Amino acid sequence: MSDITQLILDDHERFRRQFAAMDDLTDPRQLQEVWRALADLLEVHAKAEEEIFYPELISRGSGAEDETLDAVGDHNDIRDGLHEAALHPVGSEPWHAAVRKARVANSNHMAEEEDDALPDFRRHADPGLREELGRRFQAFKDEHPGAAGLDVGDIDPQHYVEVVKQQLPGQRPAEPDGSLGIGGLRERGSA
Ligand SMILES: [Fe+2]
Ligand SMILES: [Fe+2]
Repeated sequence: MSDITQLILDDHERFRRQFAAMDDLTDPRQLQEVWRALADLLEVHAKAEEEIFYPELISRGSGAEDETLDAVGDHNDIRDGLHEAALHPVGSEPWHAAVRKARVANSNHMAEEEDDALPDFRRHADPGLREELGRRFQAFKDEHPGAAGLDVGDIDPQHYVEVVKQQLPGQRPAEPDGSLGIGGLRERGSA
């Protein structure tokens, strides 16, 4: 079973469980172990959605553009928390504050994805496509263990949507490696 909407839900459940697991930890080494894996998965998951899921949603969904603008903005908020946490010693007060920022942003975002974007996509994408995209989603994650090789900087949501729309319909892949070439879109115009 590799329906992309199920794989996304599986990751969301991992996020919830790993954040919950950290509630029981105080030892910085144990916190670091859980946090490293969780932070990496949050990075790869967001990128995989931006590379594979949201472009397809834009080409098919009914409220897709607004859902995508919201989602990429949320991904930036999550990334900001992750990158802020990396600036502080694990277990310190500012580290906990940054982790909470990522957690809250992610919880709010998962609810929107699960209540809006995923239902919209299910209504407009047949099971065969969802399976094919699921295989690509999983392959993307396998190709980037620990978020290796990914540009995890913030991206401009509006520019992202414009680039994706320019490459639709039926003109992908735009890059030799099969990616949309959107991974390096830095947020423009604001810090
Ligand atoms: Fe997600
Ligand atoms: Fe997302």
